[in-house]
Amino acid sequence: MSNIQETIRSGKLPQHIAIIMDGNGRWAQQQGHERTFGHKNGVEAVRSIIEGAGELGIKYLTLYAFSTENWNRPKEEIEMLMGLLIQSIHNELEKLIKNHVRLMMTGRLSDLPESCQNALQDAIDRTAFNDGLTVVLALSYSGRTELTDAVRAIAQKSANGEITPSEITPETISNHLYHNEIPDPDILIRTGGDYRISNFLLWEIAYSELFFSPIMWPDFRKENLFDIIYDFQHRERRFGKTGEQVREQ
Ligand code: IPE
Ligand code: IPE
Ligand code: MG
Repeated sequence: MSNIQETIRSGKLPQHIAIIMDGNGRWAQQQGHERTFGHKNGVEAVRSIIEGAGELGIKYLTLYAFSTENWNRPKEEIEMLMGLLIQSIHNELEKLIKNHVRLMMTGRLSDLPESCQNALQDAIDRTAFNDGLTVVLALSYSGRTELTDAVRAIAQKSANGEITPSEITPETISNHLYHNEIPDPDILIRTGGDYRISNFLLWEIAYSELFFSPIMWPDFRKENLFDIIYDFQHRERRFGKTGEQVREQ
C-alpha cells in the first residue's frame, strides 16, 4: 500500500464517491482516433478506480456511464457503448466476484437493449451477496427522471390515501429515490475539464464536496482518486453551521 493510501486510511473515509466519467471522445479525437477508441480505453480507468476504492475500503462508488440524454448520440456510438458494457461485464465479472465487489445499477434498466439488461441483471444477481465495495453503474440515468419517478410514486400513495400532502418531507422524497439504502455521495468528481452536473444525482449531491478534474477519463487512475480523497479529508464540511460549531463537535 502506498504512503498516500496509508495516510488516507488513517483519516475519515468518504462512504460514497460518485464520478461523472467524462472526456472519452475528446481524448480519442486529440490523438486522431474515433470517439469510440476513447470509450474502449475508458474501461482501464474504471478498473483502476474500482481497484483503488476497494483497497481503501470505500463502501459505495457510483459511476455515471450513460445518461438519458446520451440516447441522442449517433446510433453507432450508442451501439458500441452497449456492446462495450456487455463485453466489460463478461471480462470483469470473475475478478469483481473475487474482490467481493457488489454490482448494482441506477437508472431505467428497461431502456437498455435486452442483451444489456440480461448481462447486467446476471452480474447484479451473482454479486448481490458480496460485502465489499458496492459499484453502482448509472445507466440511462437522469436526475430529473429519478425525481419525477419519486414524485409519481408519492402522488400515487397520496391518491390511495396512504399519505397526506402535509406529511411529505425531504425524507419522504429521499425514501422514494431509486436507492434509498445508499447514503448520499460525500464526493462528486467530474473528469474531462467541464464544470457541470449534466443531470446526475441532483437531489443526492445537495451537500457533496465537488471536484472537477481536467484529466480526460481514459487517463484517470486510482492515484488521481487518492489525491482527491486526501484533499477531501482536509476540507471542512459545515452543513450550514459555523466553523467553530463544527470544530467543537
Ligand atoms: C463520457 O465521455 C462517456 C459518455 C458520456 C458515454 P464522452 O463521450 O462524453 O466524451 P467527451 O466529453 O465527448 O470528450
Ligand atoms: C455526462 O457526460 C454523462 C456521462 C458521463 C455518462 P456528457 O458528455 O453526456 O455531458 P454533457 O453533454 O457534456 O453535459
Ligand atoms: Mg462528454
